[in-house]
Formats: sequence, structure tokens, C-alpha cells
Amino acid sequence: MKIVVIGGTGLIGSQVTEQLTARGHEVLPAAPSTGVNTFTGEGLEGALVGATVVIDVSNSPSFAADDVLAFFQRSGEHLAAAEKVAGVTHHVALTIVGAERAPDSGYLRAKIAQESVIKSAGVPFTIVRATQFFEFLPAIADAATADGVVRVPAAALQPIAASDVVAALAGVALAAPANATIEIAGPQALPLPDLLRPVLAARGDARLVVGEEHGQYFGTELTDATLTAGPQAHIGATTFAAWLATQNTTRTS
Ligand SMILES: NC(=O)c1ccc[n+]([C@@H]2O[C@H](COP(=O)([O-])OP(=O)(O)OC[C@H]3O[C@@H](n4cnc5c(N)ncnc54)[C@H](OP(=O)(O)O)[C@@H]3O)[C@@H](O)[C@H]2O)c1
Repeated sequence: MKIVVIGGTGLIGSQVTEQLTARGHEVLPAAPSTGVNTFTGEGLEGALVGATVVIDVSNSPSFAADDVLAFFQRSGEHLAAAEKVAGVTHHVALTIVGAERAPDSGYLRAKIAQESVIKSAGVPFTIVRATQFFEFLPAIADAATADGVVRVPAAALQPIAASDVVAALAGVALAAPANATIEIAGPQALPLPDLLRPVLAARGDARLVVGEEHGQYFGTELTDATLTAGPQAHIGATTFAAWLATQNTTRTS
């Protein structure tokens, strides 16, 4: 079966490409660096010829609210049109648990817009909503740093290993379209400062992390319920402690 992975050169996309190729499928990693641009439409129709499944794990190069909204909306529309021409029978997309509960975040609003385009496109689909990746925690710290101090909401996130996201996406892509949204999340919800401190320490990063009741997370406040998963979520196998044990870059011997 031919599977096109939009964003197939990224963190998730490269691993999805590898896994599905190892299972014997013809997998095309599609991205601007391989000549396929969903935002402009360049190379898209050609890439989709003969494809049965499209997995969209692309991301906007800019997180500015207007840019990211334009990216997911326009790319989604280009994808839907090209998928209809190619006869694609399953569109799989990776979005974010709880995005509708954080309307102050331009990025999360754009992910909701992406989901709306998919739901109205007329191509059978499965939307996989994931919580934040463990691998994304350093970027959260960087985005929340001012004057060398990391200030974040004290609320909980329920992060998941990228490898568990990849396994879930590969399984979904090989199954029938659900025409629905499923959730995947990590095994534990922990206060964001308690997630960031050991991640920074493992990198030898001495920045102070402060949890604040009204702290900002990419333009929005959070409660424990904003970005954590519901009871039906599929839970990834990798614990935060197990993932962290693979991250210690401060050892010298
Ligand atoms: N980070 C998180 O914690 C988290 C949680 C839940 C869901 N997600 C979602 O997961 C998805 C994948 O994230 P990631 O971290 O794997 O992304 P990433 O590593 O930043 O990779 C982004 C990919 O998108 C491609 N891309 C950029 N512009 C494109 C365009 N115009 N047309 C086609 N492809 C384009 C890039 O191609 P080039 O290599 O050519 O630039 C790259 O392959 C995102 O949609 C994100 O919203 C993320």
C-alpha cells in the first residue's frame, strides 16, 4: 500500500516513515525539503498519485497566530483537494488533546481549524489527538524563559513519548478510518514545573523553573484539566522516568 507522510522528515514523520517502510509499505516522506509543499500546493498532486493513505504530521514553520492558522487551513484545503483527485481513502492527522479548551492560544486555535477542515473535507479520516511529547518539554522551557528564569503554569500536563505517538499513528494508518477523533497520552499527569526541572537538569541546564497559578503556556493559562486526556485515551507505555533515563547528557565518563 502506498502511504504519503506529510511532514515525513520531522520528529514524528521520520519515525512513522521508518516504521511503515519496515512493515513492507511504500512510504513517501513528503515535505518542502523533498519537493512537496502543502501550503503552496507544490508537488502535492504528483506525490499523492497511487496513494491509499495520507498521514499529516506537518508543522508550521512559524508559530505566530496568523501564520499558523493560515498554514493549517490552507495546507488542509490543498491536501483535501489533492486527496480527492488521487482517490485517497484514509486521511490521518495528528492534533492536540484539549485544544478547544485553550482558545487564547493561537497555535491551539489553528489545530482546531485543521480538524474542522478535515471533518468537512469528505475524505474518510482519523484524527489522533496527542498530549505534548516528552521531546517537546525543552522547547516549552525555552518559550517560557525571560531573564534566564522559566515561568510556567503550575498546572499538570500528561506528556507522551514520541515513540509511543509513532506506534499509535502507524497502527491507525493501517486500520480502517474511524471518521472520529481518538486521544493518546502519557501514563502520568504531572505539574509542568515538575516535568521541566528534571529535563533541564539532565541537560546540565541550571535555569530556575517557577510554577505560577496564572503562568502562561503559549499565550494561555492552564488548569489541570486543560491539556490532559479524557478517560477513553490510549495510554503510551513509556513513563516519564524511563524516558528521562535516556536523556542524561551531563555524564562525562
Ligand atoms: N510537539 C508536541 O508536543 C505535539 C503534541 C501533539 C501534537 N503535535 C503535532 O504533531 C505534528 C508533528 O510535530 P513534529 O514535532 O514531528 O514536527 P517537526 O519535527 O517540526 O516537523 C515538521 C514537518 O513539517 C514539514 N513541513 C513544514 N512546512 C511544510 C509545508 N509547507 N508542507 C509540507 N510539510 C511541511 C517539515 O518539513 P521540512 O523538514 O522540509 O521543513 C517537517 O517534516 C504537528 O502537527 C504538531 O501540531 C505536537
